[in-house]
Amino acid sequence: MVCRIGILTGGGDCPGLNAAIRAIVRRADRSHSITYGFKSGWKGVLEGQVEQLTVASTRGLLHRGGTMLGTSRVDPYREPDGVERIRDALEVHRLDGLIVIGGEGTLSASRHLWEDEEIPIIGIPKTIDNDVGGTDLTIGFLTAVRTATEAVDRLHSTAESHNRVMVLEVMGRHAGWIATYAGMAGGADAILVPEVPFDIDAVGRHLKHRAGVGRDFSIVVVAEGALPQPGTMELAEPPKDEFGRPRLGGIGHTIAHEIETRTGFPARVTILGHVQRGGSPTPMDRVLATQMGVRAAELAMDGAWGTMTAYRNFGVVPVSLAEATEHLKMVPADLFAVAETFFG
Ligand code: F6P
Repeated sequence: MVCRIGILTGGGDCPGLNAAIRAIVRRADRSHSITYGFKSGWKGVLEGQVEQLTVASTRGLLHRGGTMLGTSRVDPYREPDGVERIRDALEVHRLDGLIVIGGEGTLSASRHLWEDEEIPIIGIPKTIDNDVGGTDLTIGFLTAVRTATEAVDRLHSTAESHNRVMVLEVMGRHAGWIATYAGMAGGADAILVPEVPFDIDAVGRHLKHRAGVGRDFSIVVVAEGALPQPGTMELAEPPKDEFGRPRLGGIGHTIAHEIETRTGFPARVTILGHVQRGGSPTPMDRVLATQMGVRAAELAMDGAWGTMTAYRNFGVVPVSLAEATEHLKMVPADLFAVAETFFG
């Protein structure tokens, strides 16, 4: 069916968003459907900031990081008359529905807008955290893993020269996907993730054991949301951001200090931060975003609202927004067990 589709990117940006926007526009255009891009996530929908997208206006985007539409963490449910203003935007531009490219927060709002308000939405999962349910991969994750792995590799050589412990803190919020993948890819000697509360004494023992067998340097990768086993170590309460969410970041300093105290080995900290969200998407992220964008446009034109594009077995299939947002997707125990084989 020929249709009129609104597109927005919400939540934290990541590499591959532009590739997804380009793919939606191209696929829609082939079927004579029309696309509109809302600026700055839900904010643009609520405030009527929108422009028509064309094949010409979305050329040259495939390799570019960030999002040409801009993004924000504005949640329509926390804004006055948020739902009504979304309905108005759809009506004013005579849109059949929206394709929302977002992470867990944006997709959860989308699910409720669909289930409770019957606002037609197709979701595309993106986040470097890779924690959206129902899909093996989210757009942006593999590029963040490449960046973090490169950091581990670089830390390796300087750690070895100085006989130091290098602590690398990576993002991931509630999930340890980036830490696990980059740690495994870079040969980390310990990986600390939210899924497996850590014992800092055991980490110290590992590193001492390594030194005992002649390995005088170590790499520790810690996810920003890693948690100690209860009663083993104190962590400071994180401050809140402007949306009331804990602003994570900084656990690496505590870990380095605790390691120095326990082992006497000199430790240094690198907090990779938003570097992980920037840069050009990897080929795999470009392909994933393209597959998902094309499929999302087709789902919209088929009227399959309330679904999200999910990556499974190298293909993209629709899953319900409900399935996608029911639970956060955490690092499975068997994958982490593989990583643990190489600790110490
Ligand atoms: O969800 C993606 C993410 O990069 C998290 O890994 C991180 O905790 C958070 O966003 C940072 O958010 P902000 O861009 O608001 O600093």
